[in-house]
Amino acid sequence: MQDPLAQFHAERQLARDAGDPMAHVCVLATVDQQGRPQARTLVLRNVDHNGSPRLALFINANSPKWAELANSDSASVQVYWPSVELQYRMQVQTEALDPKVVAESWQFRPDAPKKMDWLYQQQAQSTAVADRAQLLKQLDQLASPEPLVAPEAAKGLLIQVTEIERLDLTQSNGVHDRTLYTLRQGGQGEWDKQTLVP
Ligand SMILES: Cc1cc2nc3c(=O)[nH]c(=O)nc-3n(C[C@H](O)[C@H](O)[C@H](O)COP(=O)(O)O)c2cc1C
Repeated sequence: MQDPLAQFHAERQLARDAGDPMAHVCVLATVDQQGRPQARTLVLRNVDHNGSPRLALFINANSPKWAELANSDSASVQVYWPSVELQYRMQVQTEALDPKVVAESWQFRPDAPKKMDWLYQQQAQSTAVADRAQLLKQLDQLASPEPLVAPEAAKGLLIQVTEIERLDLTQSNGVHDRTLYTLRQGGQGEWDKQTLVP
């Protein structure tokens, strides 16, 4: 049976080729300590892991989502690519990406996000500040290493997909094509396939 993750990568490339700005990002949904859903846009990265393409997220360990991922054994990743009219929804688990890979890739970031990663050490991401002027002052006075290197809290997470659902809106009869693939427990990367009512 077709590997749904290979299909995901191939169709994402089609969306990229079509210049789809959504092809670069995803929505990551977690649950916070109060049990409330929390969703946010993140860059969805492709990394090479032992010769295989894998999906990854780059986030700071001083952010709420880091704790939310650590406190739960699952999260959800969703994408929609308007150019090819495809939605994918995934149930995922995460594992640490090699810090060396993170440090190398971190160097390609623009200056401002690099500095922000250092600022989060003293002022955690998503916390409130007095105002924007105060934030910019803190950033200006920030002591950071020269040349800038990735702080330990800049993390990469490899995504392990346990369920992946594809919704294809391109059917000529207007009835969407919806398929759920579930990773077989204890299998060698085999997937069970079910058609769902769209
Ligand atoms: C297009 C886009 C890409 C983003 N990419 C990232 C990213 O790769 N990593 C990240 O931590 N935040 C990224 N953000 C910011 C997050 O959406 C979010 O505001 C921030 O990480 C704080 O999230 P939290 O409070 O849920 O931890 C991105 C936002 C947008 C709009």
